[in-house]
Amino acid sequence: MIEKITVPLGNRSYAILVGADILATLGSKLREIDFPQRVAVISNPTVSQLYGDVVRKSLRAAGHDILEINLPDGEQYKNQQTLGLIYDELIRHNFDRSTGLIALGGGVIGDMVGFAAATFLRGIPFVQVPTTLLAQVDSSVGGKTAVNHPLGKNLIGAFYQPELVLIDVATLMTLDPREVAAGLAEVVKYGIIKDRSFFNWLEDNYLPLQQRQIDTLIAAVMRSCQIKSDIVEVDEKEGSVRAFLNYGHTFGHAIEFLSGYGQWKHGEAVAIGMVAAAKISAQQGLCEQADVERIIALLKSFNLPVDPPDYSLVDYVAAMQRDKKVKHGTLTLVLNQKIGDVKLLTVPDISAVFSEILTS
Ligand code: NAD
Ligand code: GLY
Repeated sequence: MIEKITVPLGNRSYAILVGADILATLGSKLREIDFPQRVAVISNPTVSQLYGDVVRKSLRAAGHDILEINLPDGEQYKNQQTLGLIYDELIRHNFDRSTGLIALGGGVIGDMVGFAAATFLRGIPFVQVPTTLLAQVDSSVGGKTAVNHPLGKNLIGAFYQPELVLIDVATLMTLDPREVAAGLAEVVKYGIIKDRSFFNWLEDNYLPLQQRQIDTLIAAVMRSCQIKSDIVEVDEKEGSVRAFLNYGHTFGHAIEFLSGYGQWKHGEAVAIGMVAAAKISAQQGLCEQADVERIIALLKSFNLPVDPPDYSLVDYVAAMQRDKKVKHGTLTLVLNQKIGDVKLLTVPDISAVFSEILTS
């Protein structure tokens, strides 16, 4: 069975299809949306070795002409140099405006392929086939695409929506447990920012989720994608409520930057960032200490880290000041009100707010 959520964005609306063992339907699903016949499947050696065959067969059966591009695997390659490899291949193989791109992989591949699609020939269509939990619940939906810059994360990018997101949760069976945990961090985020009963459900279902029980995974992916879609529908380009999705991310991005991309998984850094955000929320009287403890306990039940790595306050503040969310030197933090709701707080003195977190 294939479940469907529509991201309603007028003439750029698209479907998120969710199911188990549905990768082989990719070709026929692309035909249903009239996707270009000539496509580049962009992946990395890890993912293409696992899923390249089934995708290739499905696309060929539907009459697609395929160019395969394999990029080096890892966050440390999510940069302009790797992006250049995509453009080189597309140009060398005479890709034109009647062609399309398919991102097969985790968030690193999805973000890079999305940005390549947004910029190649001023924009060609692309689809997301996310194969990590993080990509399935977050990065493949909503059209944020980017590469990192040596001075900061995701600093070069564009909002550019895919034509389709096809999520096969069966691909999660080959994922390293640490990657599953990283994806669960973003799932927990949705509970904290938007849906208290989903947070309760996660507490009740942490074991089947950790054990990758298919029905539980589908339920978690569906609820996460629905929440994200609802937010993107009202605020596609982060003028208002989309900022809520950055809960835990400012501090998380600082950890990723300070440690050099790749050492901490994005979801792990976000888990630590969410605990920092929850502690600041308690400081500000927005939630109880008991809420902070529940958030920590749920993250720990997924084997996620909750304590910040040992960098100085000065380093953390400098890294956070480079965040995209900083405007005129002022940072806006996303804080939780109890569990299930959030509010934005403008922080003129980042050091003062974070010093207590780093010393407690
Ligand atoms: P990733 O893409 O690096 O994937 C993690 C690892 O899992 C990689 O080694 C990959 O090759 C491997 N892998 C992928 N699928 C697999 C499978 N099915 N079986 C076995 N191995 C598999 O990491 P990620 O966590 O998916 O994505 C992180 C990236 O996503 C970050 O760059 C982050 O900035 C970005 N992100 C973007 C958004 C957005 O809205 N665009 C949201 C959240 C995160
Ligand atoms: N992951 C944050 C966003 O998509 O806005």
